[in-house]
Amino acid sequence: MLEVVTSVRSVRERVRAWRAAGERIAFVPTMGNLHAGHVSLIALARTRGSRFVASIFVNPMQFGPNEDFAHYPRTPTADERMLADAGCDLMFMPDVNEVYPHGLDRGARVAVPELADMLCGKFRPGHFEGVATVVNKLFNIVQPDIAVFGEKDYQQLAIIRRMVSDLCLPIEIIGAPTVRENDGLAMSSRNQYLTPEERGIAPRIYAALRHAAGRLAARENDVAQIEAAGEAALTNAGFRVDYFSVREALELAAPKASDPHLVVLTAARIGKARLIDNVQVFRR
Ligand code: PAF
Repeated sequence: MLEVVTSVRSVRERVRAWRAAGERIAFVPTMGNLHAGHVSLIALARTRGSRFVASIFVNPMQFGPNEDFAHYPRTPTADERMLADAGCDLMFMPDVNEVYPHGLDRGARVAVPELADMLCGKFRPGHFEGVATVVNKLFNIVQPDIAVFGEKDYQQLAIIRRMVSDLCLPIEIIGAPTVRENDGLAMSSRNQYLTPEERGIAPRIYAALRHAAGRLAARENDVAQIEAAGEAALTNAGFRVDYFSVREALELAAPKASDPHLVVLTAARIGKARLIDNVQVFRR
């Protein structure tokens, strides 16, 4: 039976009792408006733990002043139903004062230099500091054994892995494969911002990433040309491209010809939506 709680204290009480009973706690942090992508995170968590906690919190610290915090879709009733159906035990839905008791500006923050400043970090200053800070808080509140994050937010996952390693947090981080619509578009709450015409164009993102990944898998090494071609394909389709970039898959550094594991990442805007996606490449 799913229980919904809003206070740190209630989460701690539940988790303490489970841990005393020898349970393994799996955690899926979300911003709500759950879709099949989130359900897949919970399904993966279920293979790795025995009690399941999900948080629903639209974190103001990770939104810039001109971003979509106010409009971000909030659907708590539907979310609760989805979590119950997915077999979740605890839904933590705090309000902003519970998470930031000293306010957004005066509280402690977690910075992950370099990794947080590249790619999306360049276009969304402060975003990943907001993500790292809230995820660290949620980890301290829930104290899970494992936590699951989607690979769609590839840079976010890399930053969380680094934070967990650098801050010695005893939590296993698991990446879950991106869930896609039938035409390849990565599932995202922000897809709701697309008009029907934009929705028709949006799958070109995955097509461009796959094309670039295919060239890299075929051992083409002119990365700058592959990036430029990917960016041009998306610009010609009607996107405003923030970046289309090939990186080494773990540290997100510029790739070397000898790197066996690469990732192609893009962020592109169309209409009101900013969409991100990525495709990994494994080379022998
Ligand atoms: O990926 C998300 O939904 C958010 O960035 C997260 C990890 C829940 C932190 O607010």
